[in-house]
Amino acid sequence: MQESPCFGTMKIMKITTEFGPLGQIEADALIVPIFEGVREERFGAGKLIDAGEVTGKALELTIIHHPQGVAATRIVLAGAGKLEKFDAAQLRRLAGAALRLLKSKSVKKIALVLAAEQCNGENAAAAVEGVVLGGFETDRYKTGDDKKSVESFTLVAEGGSADLTEAAERGRIIAEAQNFTRELANEPANLLTPLGLAAAAEKMSAEYGLQCEVLQRAQMEKLGMGALLGVAQGSAEPPALIIVRYKPASETGKAHLGLVGKGVTFDTGGISIKPADGMEKMKYDMAGGAAMLGAMRALAQLKPPIPVTAFVPCVENMPGSKAQRPGDIVTAMSGKTIEVLNTDAEGRLILADALHYAKQQGCTHLVDAATLTGAIAVALGHLNAGLFANDDGMRDRVMAASKAEGERMWVMPLEEDYKDYLKSPFADLANIGGRYGGAVTAAIFLGEFAGETPWVHLDIAGTAWLDDGKPYLAKGPSGIPVRTMVRLAMDWKD
Ligand code: BES
Ligand code: ZN
Ligand code: ZN
Repeated sequence: MQESPCFGTMKIMKITTEFGPLGQIEADALIVPIFEGVREERFGAGKLIDAGEVTGKALELTIIHHPQGVAATRIVLAGAGKLEKFDAAQLRRLAGAALRLLKSKSVKKIALVLAAEQCNGENAAAAVEGVVLGGFETDRYKTGDDKKSVESFTLVAEGGSADLTEAAERGRIIAEAQNFTRELANEPANLLTPLGLAAAAEKMSAEYGLQCEVLQRAQMEKLGMGALLGVAQGSAEPPALIIVRYKPASETGKAHLGLVGKGVTFDTGGISIKPADGMEKMKYDMAGGAAMLGAMRALAQLKPPIPVTAFVPCVENMPGSKAQRPGDIVTAMSGKTIEVLNTDAEGRLILADALHYAKQQGCTHLVDAATLTGAIAVALGHLNAGLFANDDGMRDRVMAASKAEGERMWVMPLEEDYKDYLKSPFADLANIGGRYGGAVTAAIFLGEFAGETPWVHLDIAGTAWLDDGKPYLAKGPSGIPVRTMVRLAMDWKD
């Protein structure tokens, strides 16, 4: 097996919680959330509010040097917007934006104050998530010595209790897992091949006590994974099917959650080759797989009550001399035959076999995440992932988790009638459905392999990558839907 570099461990800041009075907190900067229309008198802020310089509008940041009455060197008044609208998602963004501003100014020791009314577990976790996610940069391969990083972060929970320390720790685990996913998704395809991704999964699994197994080409041939192998055959890089297993200490119910993620380490389109412009982005065509591995990394530490297994089919989609051609007919592991009309619709082919295999391995509930179609970005833009479900209960579970985590998803149709779009004259189904409804027909295709098992498909092609940075997040991979998957498993009730 290939050696893997360490992912998700770069420049980790020390995180602590304190409950004492904020006046005594020693920090280079103390972030204080302030609300629109709620007057802050401390630190000399009153004057700034009267002058109209400080309003409390969301993500407005004002640095006060040598503030009155506190030990900290600086105060950052951080706009939290309207008090009625304030929630954990807003706090996550605020913490991230303040941290990024301070980091850019080489500030090293940072603290954030949670007022007594805001002291709850959700907020404590979100604040820590905000700073850990905000601290992430895509500068792994920059060799300059001007890279900035924050040394420590202290959550100051005024009047809070020890359970907030636990919540802050949960936030750290989840956000570091999300950064692990972002780092993997940002890796260039020469440095992260299918076997390289498998090596990274093995290393992560060993570190966190998860069971990891990697199926090689010969094993997949024996299993009859013709759809996956057809995509792999155009590349000199061998394919891999990563399986990562978590089992709770004591099993209560019968459910077994399967997390399936698309792991195309590079998508040229194959013989149906993509245009050159923007093709470099296709290094993140494994973002769904990376997200499922990130979720497992967090779950190994948080220990949900149900067994969870991740399945990540990994291939490189290349137009080599052995590549599959348009018109080729392949037989999936389920026995269904597929006419490959477009070799660029490769994600659904590898997922077809991975979904079938996940069911065979005993998964009773399935979620897949995949950068599957450009069409989902046409439909929903970059704000919402598309959510398709064959089961209302499963849909509601994932939607509830996504809402709680501020990872936006929008329910899309998955109606039987769309199956007609995938008719092939020569095989059981075609791998594309024509010009219209591209995200829906891709989901319908996958649904043929999920079968009767309650299943949710997340098309993250529009949301896995942020083209523009935000004040609270670097541009690049978003790490969606790691948090939703973690909450889905943690909140599971049969
Ligand atoms: N990986 C792409 C989808 C994609 C597009 C991801 C943009 C991220 C950003 C996928 O494999 C693909 O090529 N899909 C085709 C399907 C078509 C051939 C039916 C597409 O969306 O054009
Ligand atoms: Zn493609
Ligand atoms: Zn693809």
